[in-house]
Amino acid sequence: MTDPTQVHAEQIAYWNSIAGQRWATRQTQIDAMLAPLTDAVLAAAAPAPGARVLDIGCGCGATTLALAKRLPRGHVTGLDVSAPMLEVAARLGAGAANVTWLEADAAAHRFAPGAFDLLFSRFGVMFFGDPTAAFANLRAGARRGARLFFACWQSLADNPWMQVPLAAALAHLPPPAPPAPEAPGPFAFADRARVARILTGAGWRAPRFTPFGFPVDLGGGRGLDAAVDQTTKIGAAARAMAEQPEAVRAAATASIRAALAPHAHDDGRVTLAGAVWLVESANP
Ligand SMILES: C[S@@+](CC[C@H](N)C(=O)[O-])C[C@H]1O[C@@H](n2cnc3c(N)ncnc32)[C@H](O)[C@@H]1O
Repeated sequence: MTDPTQVHAEQIAYWNSIAGQRWATRQTQIDAMLAPLTDAVLAAAAPAPGARVLDIGCGCGATTLALAKRLPRGHVTGLDVSAPMLEVAARLGAGAANVTWLEADAAAHRFAPGAFDLLFSRFGVMFFGDPTAAFANLRAGARRGARLFFACWQSLADNPWMQVPLAAALAHLPPPAPPAPEAPGPFAFADRARVARILTGAGWRAPRFTPFGFPVDLGGGRGLDAAVDQTTKIGAAARAMAEQPEAVRAAATASIRAALAPHAHDDGRVTLAGAVWLVESANP
């Protein structure tokens, strides 16, 4: 049986090593890729003017800074466990008076009770070894009636932007071991029933799920080469290829390029469909 404590520690190590470094160097491209979602998720979260907001797993800080800009009378805490990503965030946010960066584990940090009016996240909550315990810990920092609002991916099958390059790469690789059920990862919160169980088990109200679809621009507007580079460095295809010999990686990369080429537009975008859940709950 998988030990949640060990799984959690592995995630923290992962986001402080290869994943954190790769995200940190590609922050501009990733933020461009997620821009349509970011606009929608901020509008839907609609924080009140003076809100005190916690951005969980804020990464390189795009949503923290966007929230802070909308809330000149409020305050936003960007919390993340990844030192390399927070370094980028702090650089981008230099001079923002209403932002605090906090390098901490969302599952273990001792929050001041009732410190936040809104707990927010763009893709930062699917990586906990014991998600129910993590959301219970986060709830300690929420005032009574505080809202929880996050975006998480629907299933891999519903997300061709990840599924298409992965399938192209797998044509050259031994079949991957099936992931442990409910293992942390980008698609860990695809199942609404599971997310509802986690949140209510942690004392949050039964959540509401709103589907949101958008074209994921894998190259962030910089064309097919950038899209291929992105998919072979970050995400499911990248992970599947990681330990392979150079010749296999080269063959997989060529197949990914061929699979993405039909989705390249003249203006530099390379778009495939993405599907997200916008999840909303509240602290009773
Ligand atoms: C997919 S990235 C999303 C980053 C950012 N929210 C964005 O949308 O660009 C997931 C983030 O969650 C963070 N994370 C993972 N486990 C965490 C934990 N236990 N506590 C705090 N942050 C965590 C990672 O370091 C990473 O920055």
